[in-house]
Amino acid sequence: MREFLEEKFPELNQISDPELRDKTIKVMIEAVDLSGFGQAELEKVPFTLLIPGTPISLIDHIRAVTETALKMAEVVNKAYPDRIKINIDYLLVGGLLHDIGKFAEYKSENGKFVKSDFGRLVRHPFSGAALALKHGLPAEVIHLIGTHAGEGDKGYRSPASVVLHHADFTNFEALGGKI
Ligand SMILES: [Fe+2]
Repeated sequence: MREFLEEKFPELNQISDPELRDKTIKVMIEAVDLSGFGQAELEKVPFTLLIPGTPISLIDHIRAVTETALKMAEVVNKAYPDRIKINIDYLLVGGLLHDIGKFAEYKSENGKFVKSDFGRLVRHPFSGAALALKHGLPAEVIHLIGTHAGEGDKGYRSPASVVLHHADFTNFEALGGKI
């Protein structure tokens, strides 16, 4: 599974800290284990159930959101060097893991992806944050995963989380997604 994930998420190679990279992969592996999906199914999991029949996979979405967030962070870090210093490694990991819990949030039923019983009770910001804590990822990353979606609307969002949240919604609403 490690090789499969490294191939599907080449951005893992951009994480400069090898320990952080290793922990990130361990979280991915455990999220995939929790989902019960095999490799072929993993590639077909859609990024959302709110756009019925979307051909965009969760893997492609995670990669696009990560890339969008990195570009946004590059701009704001450069534009406001005295005010904003987003840690690029942490943002990269947060991007790669923000929706990793979605694999366990969905299940395949009669050829269709639907919410799993687990997913109805534990949305991906919770499962992803729990797995990140379990594998020793830093608080900054746990915060990114836990606050990127609606769950983060009423509390504090770090500058990195603001970026990731908008990168995520850009890659949802621009495709016609509505909450
Ligand atoms: Fe997302």
